[in-house]
Amino acid sequence: MRIDLLTILPDMFAPMLSASIVGRACATGALDVVTHDLRDWTADRHRSTDDAPFGGGPGMVMKPEPVYRALDDIRAMSQLPSTVIVLSPQGRRLDQDLVRDLAKRPRLVLVCGRYEGFDERILARADMEVSLGDYVLTGGELAAMVVIDAVARLQPGVLGHEQSAADESFTEGLLEYPQYTRPASFLGMDVPEVLTSGDHARIARWRRTEAIRRTAQRRPDLIASAHLSEDERRFAEGIAHDTEE
Ligand SMILES: C[S@@+](CC[C@H](N)C(=O)[O-])C[C@H]1O[C@@H](n2cnc3c(N)ncnc32)[C@H](O)[C@@H]1O
Repeated sequence: MRIDLLTILPDMFAPMLSASIVGRACATGALDVVTHDLRDWTADRHRSTDDAPFGGGPGMVMKPEPVYRALDDIRAMSQLPSTVIVLSPQGRRLDQDLVRDLAKRPRLVLVCGRYEGFDERILARADMEVSLGDYVLTGGELAAMVVIDAVARLQPGVLGHEQSAADESFTEGLLEYPQYTRPASFLGMDVPEVLTSGDHARIARWRRTEAIRRTAQRRPDLIASAHLSEDERRFAEGIAHDTEE
């Protein structure tokens, strides 16, 4: 998968692109991330990417011309079909369904805003706007890093153990079951007996039940769309009901 980043702060990305799992994905070629400095497409001697808002008001707005020029050139740099994503607090909130969808695409172009955000006409060049959540960051770079991290770990071969991605939170519309490691007893808190039983079928059943219990307790909003049998749904609704009381 190829990811192009358009930003006025390209240096922010180097550390995350060389560390840990994302770093490995880049090193093995599972992920090809190309960072572009938006200022390379400016036309004035100050390399301005922003201007004052029409109608007045505080702050500056990102100018459309450099972004349009950059996107035309960046698109032409590869034959791969691209999805242009503008990072914005006004976009669709990123969740694991969207991550899975994005991870299958051959190429993403992530456009990072700064200042008071984008001239509205920039959005005409975007396939989607994506938000991290209902809060305002100073720029889209951290949001782009989150997108990169989340899609990188779904690329084939990137996680050491493919089951990791299959089991974890949100995969079946559920939060993940509780996890434990050694020691089996710690400060009077014991690991559930089933996990040390060696009985894989029992362990799988326990994990499924605990994932449903945890989701119903912590995120009852997820239960309606989770993939559950009828019995599981009754169990989840009972837990959610008891938690509410
Ligand atoms: C200070 S914000 C602009 C916010 C804008 N004035 C508004 O109220 O919608 C500057 C840039 O940070 C990025 N940003 C801020 N919050 C974000 C969020 N929750 N998700 C994704 N990007 C965000 C966007 O790229 C945005 O253009």
